[in-house]
Amino acid sequence: MPFTPRVFSGIKPSGDLHLGNYLGAIRRFVPLQDTHQTIYCVVDMHAITVWQEPEDLRRWTYEIAAAYIAAGLDPKRSIIFNQSQVVEHAELSWIFNCVARMGWMARMTQFKDKAGENSEQVSLGLFAYPSLMAADILLYKSTGVPVGDDQRQHLELTRDIAKKFNHDFRKQIRDLGFEEDYFPITETLSTGPAMRVMSLRDGKKKMSKSDASDMSTIYMMDDADAISKKIKKATTDPEGLPTEAAGLENRPEAANLVAIYAALADKSVDAVLAEFGGHGWGKFKPALADLAVTVLSPVANEMKRLVGDRGEMDRILRDGAERARAIAVPHMEEIRNIVGFVR
Ligand code: TRP
Repeated sequence: MPFTPRVFSGIKPSGDLHLGNYLGAIRRFVPLQDTHQTIYCVVDMHAITVWQEPEDLRRWTYEIAAAYIAAGLDPKRSIIFNQSQVVEHAELSWIFNCVARMGWMARMTQFKDKAGENSEQVSLGLFAYPSLMAADILLYKSTGVPVGDDQRQHLELTRDIAKKFNHDFRKQIRDLGFEEDYFPITETLSTGPAMRVMSLRDGKKKMSKSDASDMSTIYMMDDADAISKKIKKATTDPEGLPTEAAGLENRPEAANLVAIYAALADKSVDAVLAEFGGHGWGKFKPALADLAVTVLSPVANEMKRLVGDRGEMDRILRDGAERARAIAVPHMEEIRNIVGFVR
């Protein structure tokens, strides 16, 4: 019995959304609605693996859900909800905590980066984070997950958990009437060329909500003035724009601005350089600022409208959670049965 093509992805409500989240993730979720059943989650339980002010957590949860919709996800076609409203995520993650091995978890580079020197003081949840992520994905038997490169290792772990579960419980899975595996081996979906939006101040650092300088990051809720100012002050090098992509090598700031332009205009880097190659930044930056404002303002305006209507947002999230549960609950019943829990 083949698995239904189903996509799951999630974003953590742990900071203001920025251009990197939009171009690298949210915007890429939209076309998958045409080919897959799509489930897009606001992973609030992942957010609290590090301290979150409860009021901020709530605000960011609404903000991400609003951004999903403003970017073109249709809450009728896609299931849009926040993770904590479907308790089965927590239940399955516990079972996965008992499937995953300490050694697998200890190899996770994101944990090592986040914990740093401080590994005795971080939460147990931060260590178990990838197990909850595997539960998010496999609770729906998702076959594909669109994520950036930084999440590849977590997806490999998700596949390892699925394989070990399928193997350890082979007999019970057969007894339940499944001829093959219970969980699919989920693929990492790439939806076009890798898009990593870098800081406007340092082209070697990822654009991030935790950057010390506000000028390095374009936030989705920034107004036109803020967007223009940040782009016009972005760090560049003394050379102008090259006529070919090879001329961007070892010029991370230049490459980043051109890549942002290409992504916003839905053009290739070559097409952008065909237009601007040989010109200076004094010509390119105002064009990029105009383009960014044109593309991002309607999204920001719709986000503002939606977050201002909590009644509407609550309805959308509750409806999403209900539809998520319609898939999750029967799966969870089977999983409890497979594991041997008495009901
Ligand atoms: N760990 C992901 C990130 O930091 C967020 C996430 C949680 C996720 N659960 C997921 C992404 C399930 C894809 C699928 O970006």
